[in-house]
Amino acid sequence: MDRFDLIVLGAGPGGYVAAIRAAQLGQKVACIDENRQLGGTCLRVGCIPSKALLESSERYAEARHDLKKHGVLVEEVKLDLAAMLKRKTEIVSSLTGGIDGLLKKHKITRILGRGKLVGEGRIAIAGEKSSEISSTHIVLALGSRPAAIPSLSIDGEFICGSDQALSWPSVPKKLVVVGAGYIGLELGSVWSRLGSEVTVVEALDRILPGMDGEIADLAKSIFEKQGVIFRLGSKVEGADKAKGRLKLAGGESIECERVLVAVGRRANTADAGLETAGVALDPQGRVLVNESFATSAPGVFAIGDCIAGPMLAHKASEEGVACVERIVTGFGHVNYDAIPGVVYTHPEIASVGKTEQDLQQSQTEYRVGKFAFRANGRARALGQTDGLVKMLADKTTDRLLGVHILGPRAGDLIAEAAVAIDFGASSEDLARSCHAHPTLAEALHEAALDVDGRVLHS
Ligand code: NAI
Repeated sequence: MDRFDLIVLGAGPGGYVAAIRAAQLGQKVACIDENRQLGGTCLRVGCIPSKALLESSERYAEARHDLKKHGVLVEEVKLDLAAMLKRKTEIVSSLTGGIDGLLKKHKITRILGRGKLVGEGRIAIAGEKSSEISSTHIVLALGSRPAAIPSLSIDGEFICGSDQALSWPSVPKKLVVVGAGYIGLELGSVWSRLGSEVTVVEALDRILPGMDGEIADLAKSIFEKQGVIFRLGSKVEGADKAKGRLKLAGGESIECERVLVAVGRRANTADAGLETAGVALDPQGRVLVNESFATSAPGVFAIGDCIAGPMLAHKASEEGVACVERIVTGFGHVNYDAIPGVVYTHPEIASVGKTEQDLQQSQTEYRVGKFAFRANGRARALGQTDGLVKMLADKTTDRLLGVHILGPRAGDLIAEAAVAIDFGASSEDLARSCHAHPTLAEALHEAALDVDGRVLHS
């Protein structure tokens, strides 16, 4: 039986990053994944392929509708969906191949197969060659899978999950998306731009639960202008594939060619031998961990989507690094108040820290600064003036508590706010930092000035 210092189960952005950090710290590391392509959901069927399609579909929509404004006339714009999908597949292959290279570079033993805990420090692998390996430390980075609704079982044709919605060979004339969260809005945007009539059915009376309410409401009205139809507060009862209809509570139904179910994700904690090893789960089926990412089983740790917290690739990577640093050096830390979230729609929506609703709920007194992109020179030049920056700071100390951006390149702009919050900055710190002109980042500067009533350009 091969013995390692540390074994990582799962090679997504949590697992492979944990393996690399452990190898950097001098550990003999093995990383097990049942998929030949490394990188987990994020690289294979999540963040990366969806961003490839978002980018391509945005170019298509821009060529059809927006280039005229720039004085660029395009005679005929045609969609080559096969070429668009091929480009996406090639991006995924090159990146997953890159992770193979990174593991080799760090002399990490990569094991292809399904790993299962079979006793203290022992993992059995069922794969091409079945075997057993052991280690003092095991890190579970098991990831998550799409949640299901009992009334809508995925058939991969009429009722689909996000995996399939990344590869449909033709544009559905009418698409119903169930769930107005990250996936529903991103993939709904892709197919809407490519020509589908998209209806988003959401159980709650708002979109993007968890994001700042004002930003989410404004985003909804922008998506409506783009042609997306929202049915909020709607309960799904089932679907009739033969008639091509999604049935809602109250007897109503919506005609459609395909249904995309995007109602959240569940931790992948089944069939990994967790009960055998004594790894306790919470009521939602996620692995319970303490502040060192240690589970209830000796020597077993867990990170990423299979534990509590936002199901985000970068959160998993942060935890992977902190977990192995704790194991090897005794120190390692994740600041959960400084983890940004980004929805890659057009415009993008990005957020870090507390929302206004969080602060009201915790009865924290705060001040707000806002700045609209329509008053930003660079946004005007880009022709992308929808949206705003909203900054929330503690009323007494001025410490930054939350920053929320709806607008062009919000996903890149949020990095400044995440660093500021991580460093414990005040809104005045940002207001006193020089921002290049003309840039979109000036909108953050102005919002910071606005917290103190000193905004310059509005
Ligand atoms: P989500 O949790 O973001 O949104 C699910 C939505 O479905 C919620 O609005 C919820 O109220 C609604 N819903 C639940 N049950 C419903 C029902 N029966 N009928 C109608 N609506 C219902 O989940 P989503 O979009 O599936 O994404 C899963 C995870 O993947 C998220 O945790 C997200 O963080 C992550 N993700 C992150 C991305 C990013 O960082 N850009 C992109 C895609 C996914």
